Amino acid sequence: MIEPIILGIETSCDESAVGIVRGRTLLANVIASSVEEHARFGGVVPEIASRAHLEAMIPTIRQALQDAKISLSDIDAVAVTAGPGLIGALLVGVGAGAGLALGLDRPIFAVNHLAAHISVDALTHSQSLQPTIALLVSGGHSSLLQVDDITASITQLGATMDDAAGEAFDKIARLMKLGFPGGPAIDALATGADECAIDFPRGLTTSGDWQSRPFDFSFSGLKTAVARYIEATPDYTRADVAASFQEAIVDVLLLKSVAACKSTGIDSLVIAGGVAANSRLRALAQQRCDKAGIHLAIPAPGLCTDNGAMVAALGSLMVLAGRSASPIAFEADSSLPVDVLSLLS
Ligand code: KG4
Ligand code: ZN
Repeated sequence: MIEPIILGIETSCDESAVGIVRGRTLLANVIASSVEEHARFGGVVPEIASRAHLEAMIPTIRQALQDAKISLSDIDAVAVTAGPGLIGALLVGVGAGAGLALGLDRPIFAVNHLAAHISVDALTHSQSLQPTIALLVSGGHSSLLQVDDITASITQLGATMDDAAGEAFDKIARLMKLGFPGGPAIDALATGADECAIDFPRGLTTSGDWQSRPFDFSFSGLKTAVARYIEATPDYTRADVAASFQEAIVDVLLLKSVAACKSTGIDSLVIAGGVAANSRLRALAQQRCDKAGIHLAIPAPGLCTDNGAMVAALGSLMVLAGRSASPIAFEADSSLPVDVLSLLS
């Protein structure tokens, strides 16, 4: 079979992103981010994001085609993030994707942003990890998933009960006046610092929690503990607080991921989403998976945060698996559940 060329569009948050893949090979990955326009507000402002998507959409598509050295008519299918995300932002990508699919008379795959985060691994690692446990950690979501087939079946084993992991990084960074988004700033500040300096709480890890909520997360207690520590310790060492906070999050994420592998008997783990770019998470995951005999896959850091390649990758896996395309008049869904991998009606 000739490998299909898929153009993927991602506009669920503040990145207007277009990726092009041929089969499992990345041809182009162009990202126009409006993050600087949001920075002074300390978080993404939906209206600003939508407007920035409108301005960036066509130039980003053009640049991706140029990078991939193809023309529009070479595209076999279009994939676009249908949700979850900011509705006004999603609608810009959905409009662009549907317009392209109609104009080119090609199928469209309206895919799930969260599943796309996981499927980007197909571009980095040729071995297909199915079934696998997936730890999905982004700015809006933190879940442990069992992936039996990334194009057809994902089951949620657990999720955060309050903040997402990335949200916790962003909130602590705001507290420490490190700017937005906070994850990369905390990651950088923590490098070389003492992660054992302060013993911050690990949420939902008491023996009772392991019985009742083994695969769920909670980061609000940690956030409060860091806030109290900072308030009570005016001359605190910033790098040590960053490293100790980061360690508390990463420790819990990995304890629960390894436990999910053991409990399901699945010896493979994929870590995806923006927080998967975290250097400490990547290093400690490798140590713990080696020790537990778990095969670990984490996409390259640049493919962990929102991008169009991940959407194209999921579209491509859908085409290769012979999955049905979406109807052209599908509706974006800002709260699309993680187990709905693409829209079929
Ligand atoms: O997946 P993503 O790009 O967007 C969403 O779908 O939410 O994730 C963004 C999140 C932000 O909260 C950001 O602070 C976090 O990922 N992040 C990181 C790192 N890079 C991005 N968190 C920790 N360490 C990093 N290096
Ligand atoms: Zn994302």
